[in-house]
Amino acid sequence: MAKVLIVYYSLGGNTKIAAEAILKGAQGVGANVTIKNALKANADDLIDCDAVAIGTPDYFSYMAGGLKDFFDRALYSVEGKVTDKPCFVFVTHGGGGKAVESVEEMCKRFKFKEIGKPLLIKGKPDSKAEKQLEEAGRKLANS
Ligand SMILES: Cc1cc2nc3c(=O)[nH]c(=O)nc-3n(C[C@H](O)[C@H](O)[C@H](O)COP(=O)(O)O)c2cc1C
Repeated sequence: MAKVLIVYYSLGGNTKIAAEAILKGAQGVGANVTIKNALKANADDLIDCDAVAIGTPDYFSYMAGGLKDFFDRALYSVEGKVTDKPCFVFVTHGGGGKAVESVEEMCKRFKFKEIGKPLLIKGKPDSKAEKQLEEAGRKLANS
């Protein structure tokens, strides 16, 4: 059974809803899923999983500080241990979405292997976005 980690940050709830849709998709194909607010996630979570979904709101055209904090704390502990780990990035935004670039840079730095293009969602995920997120969860679980 694949172990999937979903790590996200959310102040207003939009990104949390997106994370929960990925959870639904991954659990639907039998994955063992851990979902964590980035402030509570750590390097061991990243090392232990087979695949990771990373979600953030766009705050000031950059990833949320809470997610950046997770990456800051994890780097030295995970270096060399997460190379080619399948990864999926999702970003909620208010009309910009430039923050996705900062997350993809981080994926390169950690040497993750993205399983597809990041999903950018404006505001609260609608039913179409939720379906896309569920599909990403299934894909991640089977990667
Ligand atoms: C402090 C702050 C800064 C923001 N900056 C941007 C921005 O630069 N570009 C953008 O598209 N949206 C921006 N937004 C809108 C959020 O990205 C958007 O509402 C997002 O869905 C919020 O996610 P959350 O509900 O998970 O916190 C900003 C929101 C906040 C609270």
